[in-house]
Order: sequence, then C-alpha cells, then structure tokens
Amino acid sequence: MSAYATCVERFIQSDIRNPLYDKPDMISFSAGRPDAAVFPLSDISTAFHVLFSKGELVQALQYGTTEGLGPLREKLAAVVMKEAGVVTDTGNIMITTGSQQGINFSAQLFVNPGDTVICETPTYLGALNTFSVAGAQCIGIPVESDGMNIEALQQTLEKHRDAKFIYTIPDFQNPTGSYMSLKKRKQIAELAAVYGIPVIEDAPYSEIRFTEEKLPPIKSFDTSGMVIYLSTFSKTLCPGLRIGWICADTSILQKYVLLKGTSDSQSSTIDQFLAYYYLTNSDWKARVASVRQVYLKRRNTMIEAIKKYLPDTISYVVPEGGFFVWLKLPILMDDKELLNKTTAFWNVSFVPGSGFFPEKNKNNYIRLSYSNTPVDAIPEGIKRLGQALQ
Ligand SMILES: Cc1ncc(COP(=O)(O)O)c(C=O)c1O
Repeated sequence: MSAYATCVERFIQSDIRNPLYDKPDMISFSAGRPDAAVFPLSDISTAFHVLFSKGELVQALQYGTTEGLGPLREKLAAVVMKEAGVVTDTGNIMITTGSQQGINFSAQLFVNPGDTVICETPTYLGALNTFSVAGAQCIGIPVESDGMNIEALQQTLEKHRDAKFIYTIPDFQNPTGSYMSLKKRKQIAELAAVYGIPVIEDAPYSEIRFTEEKLPPIKSFDTSGMVIYLSTFSKTLCPGLRIGWICADTSILQKYVLLKGTSDSQSSTIDQFLAYYYLTNSDWKARVASVRQVYLKRRNTMIEAIKKYLPDTISYVVPEGGFFVWLKLPILMDDKELLNKTTAFWNVSFVPGSGFFPEKNKNNYIRLSYSNTPVDAIPEGIKRLGQALQ
C-alpha cells in the first residue's frame, strides 16, 4: 500500500523476537528477560493493598500529569538516582513507558531522516532499530572491554560536526557486557561540552553489578547539561510495570514532556502508584543487592560451563554485570547458520550477533543471555552449544 509513510519501509523484525526461540523444550539463551523469580511478588501485592486501602484508587484510575506522578519522581530523585550516583531533583525527571520510550523519544526529538547518530558498535538492537526507523545514519564507535574507543569517538565528532547525539550504554553493555572506565566516562562528558552534542546515557543494567567497583554515571560529570540519562525498573523490579524515566536538564526535559504529551499523554497512573508504594515501603539498596546475587550465580554458572564445554577457538570477556555473555566465533563461522543448526538439532537458542552492528558487517558473534534460563539448564545448554560448534 502506498499510503504508508516512508519510515514503514525501515521497519524490521527484531532478531530478539524470533519464533524459533519458542519451540517447546528449547534451552533459551535468547531474550534479555529478567528471571521471574526475582519479581518482588509480596512487596508488589502489598503495594496493591496499600493502593486499595489508602483510598487513592480513584486518583490512580484518573489521568495524571505528563511528567509523571510527583511523589514517584521525588522518590526516584531521592533514592534511586542517588543510589545510582546522580544528584538531581524531581523537576529533572519524567516518567516514561519503559526506557525504550526514552530511546524512541530521543530519536524523535533530535533526528531528521539522513541525520548522523553516533553509537557503540555493537550496540543494543532495540535502539538501532528505533534510530533506523527515524532515518538516522548510525556511525558505530568500537566498544572495548572498558567502553567506547575515545580516539575513534573524537575523530568521528570532528568529521561529523552535525551529528545529533551520542548513544551509549556504559554499564554492562548490551550485548558485550563492557563496563566503561571512569576515565572514559569523564572524557565523554567533556566531549559533550566541547562539541555541544547531547549524550544519551542508557543505564538499564547499572545496578546489576557484580564487581565491588561502582563507577559513577556519565551524567554525574555533566557540566554542560548535555547528558540525558535513561533508566528503568525493567531489570531491577519487573518489566511489566513499564516504568522507566528520563533525567535531564530542565530545558531539554521540557521538550521530552511536550513530545510525551503528543504520544501517550502519560504513563499508566496505576503502575506509577505501585512503583511509588513499592519504593516507599521497601529498602531499595537491599533490593538491588539481592537481585545482583541471583544474576551473579547465573553468570558464574554460564562462565564455568563455557570454560568446560566450548572450544578454545571461542573468545569472550567475563562480564562484571548485566545479563549477557558476548561470544566471538571463528571468523568463517556464520551466526545465523549456527542458530539454525542449534535450534533444529540441539534445542538451544541465542541471539545472532550481526543485528547488533550498525554497519551490519560482522556475522561471527553471538549473544548469550543467562538472565532467564533456569540455572540447572545452563550447563546442559552450553554443552549442546559446544557440540554444535564441533
Ligand atoms: C540497553 C537497553 N536499553 C533499553 C532497554 C529497554 O528496556 P525497557 O524494558 O525499560 O523498555 C533494554 C531492554 O532490554 C536494553 O537492553
């Protein structure tokens, strides 16, 4: 049909949602879903109870403000952002419907078709797809075990002075697991000020940290007001709430608020109340500490199995947090062919790495997620992957 806008031609089916993954008995290392066992069921049901019993249900069923529920934004500033290392105020926070909406709004606010966006290569597929629908030309900066290559970033900024923003995932990056060094965080904040370019800092995994070393976000070094921080409860609480948020300078945040007004008007009032009561009645620090332990165990189980069952020709970096192990296959091996083989004959799935590269120029990487596979099934799944690789 010719009535569609041209952006429809750029829609693609994400490799993260492949029907092959849903076969019965499949050991799946595909989706970056949290383990449902970490959902705080009794705390959320207490939050429901408080909502019903406090007589605020009418308010929770009513329209709310576009920025989001004031008391929730206050709690985010005073508790969650403080714990993350950002000193901020309620007025600098807008609630989003998941942080995916923050990514989408960033594309809508800054990108005209044909514009340049700078990101990591590889990077989060969901962001790449969103930028592509907006018509962005994504330039990838190689990501190393300590974050973006800063020299390459600076050269790209020099060459593309009209680039619209830098998109980065400093903490336990999706898909590589990379944890950006303190030096690079400071350098990126400085480059944002020097080049006057916004930085979209996407931080869904910042609290899923296994190392003692807690590095402050780029936002905490933001002297120019150019850093836009995106976060979410999807990995620390439960993704079904769809509560994320944007923390930005007020002049930038106002634009996001106006855009949200034209999009979904506001995020669900009920979900915001639940998140607010959750934060009011629980200990956030203890929460993230316990969630870390769950994923640390899974990470360790997967790494042990990789050491035991995968050939030495496969390389990887042990992630210090997050949900993923990023495997480099021998150069002539094809990620999608391997997936077809493992799903057809071994009942094991993963996400092929090629979709994570903006240049679409590498096909010998795969992403394994350990976040939602039963711990007992991880060694068996890796063993089967090892057999398929032989
Ligand atoms: C890097 C990154 N950003 C954003 C998101 C989206 O999260 P949300 O569920 O809050 O929309 C994800 C989800 O996997 C992610 O990995």
